[in-house]
Amino acid sequence: MDKGQLISELNSQFAYFLKSVPETREVPHSYSEAQGLLMASPNLWTCGFPPGSMWYMYELTGAKNWKKAATFNTLKLEEAKNRTNTHDLGFIFFCSYGNAYRITGIEEYKNVIIEASETLVKRFNSTVGSIRSWDWGKWQYPVIIDNVMNLEMLFWASKITGDSKYKDVAISHADVTMANHYRQDGTCCHLVDYDISTGKPIKKQTYQGLNDESAWARGQAWGFYGYVMCYRETRNNNYLHFANKIASYILDNAPRDMIPFWDYDAPGIPNEPKDASAGALIASALYELSSYVPAKTKCYIRSADQILDSLNSEKYRAEIGTNKGFLLLHSTGNKPGNKEVDVALNYADYYYLEALKRQMEIKNSHKKI
Ligand code: GLY
Repeated sequence: MDKGQLISELNSQFAYFLKSVPETREVPHSYSEAQGLLMASPNLWTCGFPPGSMWYMYELTGAKNWKKAATFNTLKLEEAKNRTNTHDLGFIFFCSYGNAYRITGIEEYKNVIIEASETLVKRFNSTVGSIRSWDWGKWQYPVIIDNVMNLEMLFWASKITGDSKYKDVAISHADVTMANHYRQDGTCCHLVDYDISTGKPIKKQTYQGLNDESAWARGQAWGFYGYVMCYRETRNNNYLHFANKIASYILDNAPRDMIPFWDYDAPGIPNEPKDASAGALIASALYELSSYVPAKTKCYIRSADQILDSLNSEKYRAEIGTNKGFLLLHSTGNKPGNKEVDVALNYADYYYLEALKRQMEIKNSHKKI
């Protein structure tokens, strides 16, 4: 499909989404026919994605109404900046305020992200060398793979303030996660629990994946995206090598339509739910990685294009006026918990729009050469 036509359709569908966004502090989190529309308050890790998607829509369309909506929904989240009970501040603030600052340069946005970064580093334990993920559950010091995504905000905070403490935390967390979450084949477990007195791993397990040895699809995608980003921010070749290794696993095990099933080891493949959110994340990270690895540029771009071709198709993209305005169908949040199986999720849409933007930037830069 012609890109202009696609953006115009996404614009219409997301305008319908906007109708579901209340004036209150909440934003839409997920939608399915069975569960209806579920909302995210600033207590939920996904609350930054809808404003982030609105910033991307503003960039993709140039339409002022998106800037207005993005601004309103970004400012809703400020109250979360002092929350020390979550590791998700990077998701919450970098997708919303991060894009707001990148696009507008307004100082107030910058100050909020620095405050959120200050809050996030309070969750770092130097014996473990990582940021703690969850404060609930039976673990001593749980760290989930998803947490590498929160490091992007910390790298940014060091660049903008000149204080290396945020980046030092990010690098330590990335290195410790690389050493303990990952297996020989380039896959990772979801959660590592650490002994707080020694900093050594006690247990490696899953929470949202099939089992402790399996490759939960979104976990692989978080890790992949995270290490591509770590390479961008540090130019440390260990991260680049690692990102390439994860990419090999993901591409070698991709299904025909390139959108992962919810877990690469799910026993009923091909009759298992898909996870479009993992597909969108992988496409976005592949576009970025393609610019760092000249020998694989074409292969990575081709694979990312194939993912987007699937997501753009009627199999994964909701018809205009359906799906409560969410762009994509068929994501899976937590299959073992029987929550959000084959639904629309706000972060799938966010990374889908980001991937489309990256794809357009790459195609435009090739045209100029
Ligand atoms: N960060 C939670 C998830 O990926 O479901």
